Amino acid sequence: MTKALEGVRILDMTHVQAGPTGTQLLAWLGADVIKVELPGRGDITRGQLQDVKGADSLYFTMLNSNKRSVTINMKTPHGKAVLEELVRRCDVIVENFGPGVLDRAGFTWERFQELNPRIIYASIKGFGPGPFVDCKAYENVAQCMGGAASTTGWENGPPTVTGAQIGDSGTGVHCVVGILGALFQREHTGKGQRVEVAMTDAVLNLCRVKMRDQQRLQRGPLAEYPNREFGEAVPRAGNASGGGQPGAALRCAPGGPNDYVYVIIQPTCWAPLMKLCGREELIADPAYATPAARLPKIPECFSIIEKWTMTKTKMDVMAALNEVDVPCGPILSMKDIYEDRSLYARNMLVELDHPTRGRYVQVGMPINLSDSPVEHRRAPLLGEHTDEILGWLGYGEGEIKAMHDEGAV
Ligand SMILES: CC(C)(COP(=O)(O)OP(=O)(O)OC[C@H]1O[C@@H](n2cnc3c(N)ncnc32)[C@H](O)[C@@H]1OP(=O)(O)O)[C@@H](O)C(=O)NCCC(=O)NCCS
Repeated sequence: MTKALEGVRILDMTHVQAGPTGTQLLAWLGADVIKVELPGRGDITRGQLQDVKGADSLYFTMLNSNKRSVTINMKTPHGKAVLEELVRRCDVIVENFGPGVLDRAGFTWERFQELNPRIIYASIKGFGPGPFVDCKAYENVAQCMGGAASTTGWENGPPTVTGAQIGDSGTGVHCVVGILGALFQREHTGKGQRVEVAMTDAVLNLCRVKMRDQQRLQRGPLAEYPNREFGEAVPRAGNASGGGQPGAALRCAPGGPNDYVYVIIQPTCWAPLMKLCGREELIADPAYATPAARLPKIPECFSIIEKWTMTKTKMDVMAALNEVDVPCGPILSMKDIYEDRSLYARNMLVELDHPTRGRYVQVGMPINLSDSPVEHRRAPLLGEHTDEILGWLGYGEGEIKAMHDEGAV
């Protein structure tokens, strides 16, 4: 069976997380992803957070599946020539170097176009044009400047970053959307184009409901928020949904740090919830019967439900609430998820063998295409495919050896 992106060749000049997330998705869709790395060191994450001495870290292996690795020093004459040849033969370049790095190495957008007018050149940076354009950025910088941190956490607590890597992985996913759009447009125009995504913009896009609330706040307090006092900016609202349907994380038995269930009170769910909680009298009580009547009493409504959830485990609550069609979600720890065999059964968690680190668990491809099955393959060792790729580019054995000896590859 073919793959969605079969025949598409990606020159992957990404590192750390934001770029590699995107190119890993492209590889799972069937593209041939050639990851360019600095000889001798490679992507800095290979050596970061190492849990097995001398082996590539999970940080690296979990973001670089299904790719080939070629080492090239793009600052040497031979390295430059190899990279140029790759640009001629690839469809897409993806990079997330610091601002100006590729330009300084002589690889400008204009140069890429000269080498290959069909090339799509995708860049991830921390910031778009403006005062911070030359600044480097990491995940939490993007979360702080894209609106996530100021709106996450507890009303009286500090701004808080989320564990979901919305700045890095979120941006990588946005970048893939741009690349696929550009590939599709190229089918009609025959031309490549520039794709640029700023991490802070991607985070803002993911925080757009908070921008909605910023504008609503100008017309009065946000009634769906648990907060009682409002300043000029959208406040942190704990675990409240803050949206059209009230939601809260409620305690469950036996009371451990993750013994909580998130419950949402859809208008149709009030009656079944009250039946389960043994509070049938509140179903028709005008003080509680409608969403508008409950709105000023959301915390009170949830404490009624919590009295019931505290008598059950989170999984029992999940079962009981789904019986009566109430949307809810037990808070699952990473250990719960790691041990959930159903995730392995459908390849959302995949066990892969690696020559130096042994078996590891990879989060699999979260997008399923009926005609493009994903085959999960381990991340490459540093330079594992250098000679293979140089040979394919037309270099002979002697030339390849000379390039190794001079440190160009
Ligand atoms: C992530 C980030 C902060 C890391 O900063 P950094 O470690 O200083 O790395 P940079 O990308 O700025 O620079 C890498 C250097 O290695 C060099 N290098 C990397 N690969 C190379 C190669 N194959 N050949 C030769 N040189 C190479 C670069 O030329 C550059 O050197 P220079 O500054 O002398 O030109 C920065 O890359 C960045 O802001 N990226 C954009 C935003 C982003 O993606 N952030 C999230 C990462 S998850």
